[in-house]
Amino acid sequence: MNPELIKKDFPILNQQINQKDLVYLDNGATSQKPSQVIKAITHFYETSNANVHRSIHTLATRATIGYEKAHETVANLINAKSHEVIFTRGTTDGLNKIARSLKNSTINNAPVFQDGDEIVLTEMEHHANIVPWQQVKKDLKKQNINITLKWIPLTDNYELDLSNLNQIITKKTKVLSLTHISNVLGTINPVKQIIKQAKNINPNIITIIDAAQSVPHMPVDVKDLGCEVLVFSSHKMLGPTGIGALYGKESLLKEIEPFNYGGDMIMDVSKESANWNELPFKFEAGTPSLAQAAGFKSAIDYLTTIGMQKIKEHSDELTSYMLEKLSAIKGLKIIGPNTAKNRAPVVSFTINSIHNHDINEILNSEGIAIRVGNHCAMPLMQSLSISNGTLRASAYIYNTKKDVDKLTTTLNKAIKIFSK
Ligand SMILES: Cc1ncc(COP(=O)(O)O)c(C=O)c1O
Repeated sequence: MNPELIKKDFPILNQQINQKDLVYLDNGATSQKPSQVIKAITHFYETSNANVHRSIHTLATRATIGYEKAHETVANLINAKSHEVIFTRGTTDGLNKIARSLKNSTINNAPVFQDGDEIVLTEMEHHANIVPWQQVKKDLKKQNINITLKWIPLTDNYELDLSNLNQIITKKTKVLSLTHISNVLGTINPVKQIIKQAKNINPNIITIIDAAQSVPHMPVDVKDLGCEVLVFSSHKMLGPTGIGALYGKESLLKEIEPFNYGGDMIMDVSKESANWNELPFKFEAGTPSLAQAAGFKSAIDYLTTIGMQKIKEHSDELTSYMLEKLSAIKGLKIIGPNTAKNRAPVVSFTINSIHNHDINEILNSEGIAIRVGNHCAMPLMQSLSISNGTLRASAYIYNTKKDVDKLTTTLNKAIKIFSK
């Protein structure tokens, strides 16, 4: 793959910011969109706009077929069945929905959560995979059901410390929910191995993977991972905002409570009660994000035409290069594993005694976009004793080594200015 050629497909990248060519290295927050995706969204409105699964005129049929094809495309990407893919608003929405549903569900005639149960998370989670579980705990407490949140800690090399996993996960652990790739550290977690170990301890554990940072960058196969649930966002993988996917294992989705109630998710409704539609409709109440689904499908078509394995190889090469160039800067500390093995091109760093915002100011003046802050991971920052957040450069398919060179040259310039 040729990132220089790929870049030409992205109109937004062909511009100057502060009279300098834009270097976009904030892909961990969101990715840019190629013309193909922008056109797919416009094309939907120009040719196929109608509601789905309702009317049976030509436009409605076209819209329904397009929407169902989007399900199929997402399913093929992650090796799921089409009806195991639920469209959500994104990763945060998916995690909130599954947390709320599990709180209200019974499996094999027993409530999922009972007094004394546990939910296991890791210290490198995004707030999206922390706060919904804190809410589950609070809500259950009101029903006199006390559950505990437990945390897998980190090693000194910013990886998960799995040495005590057998104590952290117990027969009382109902849910293990963890990120595939840390949006701060770039660490790729060995989720397949962790899931296997967790299921050895407790075969009934429900494993949930936050794949917001992994599905855009590498092949992900839900059957191979063995998880029950996996969630991700379209906007981080060239698609539009407002849509994402929740994969749920068929057997789990059949048992748990719907996420929302209303039109399209029912089979029959009387004045007294209703029963649920088949999968995936049971979980998609109301009019879905139709144009966004067309854009999401187009984004996946774009990525799979390149090939997810090729994208992973490009990610690995850029990760190595970013680590090499950044670690050569005096006074710069990389917050994350310092080798490219099991590492994504998301590199957080701090610079000795210079405020992150000052550095960002200089980068922005040179047209370089990166992110500054706590990256929605305050508990991680607390574990690492980082009080002012980090700078974070995150690359994607259109980034080149030249982009990394511009970043490092400008960082050196900024350090010089602020060291005077
Ligand atoms: C690891 C991780 N989880 C969850 C999210 C939340 O994703 P979204 O804002 O698309 O819902 C992000 C976004 O940065 C993320 O990086």
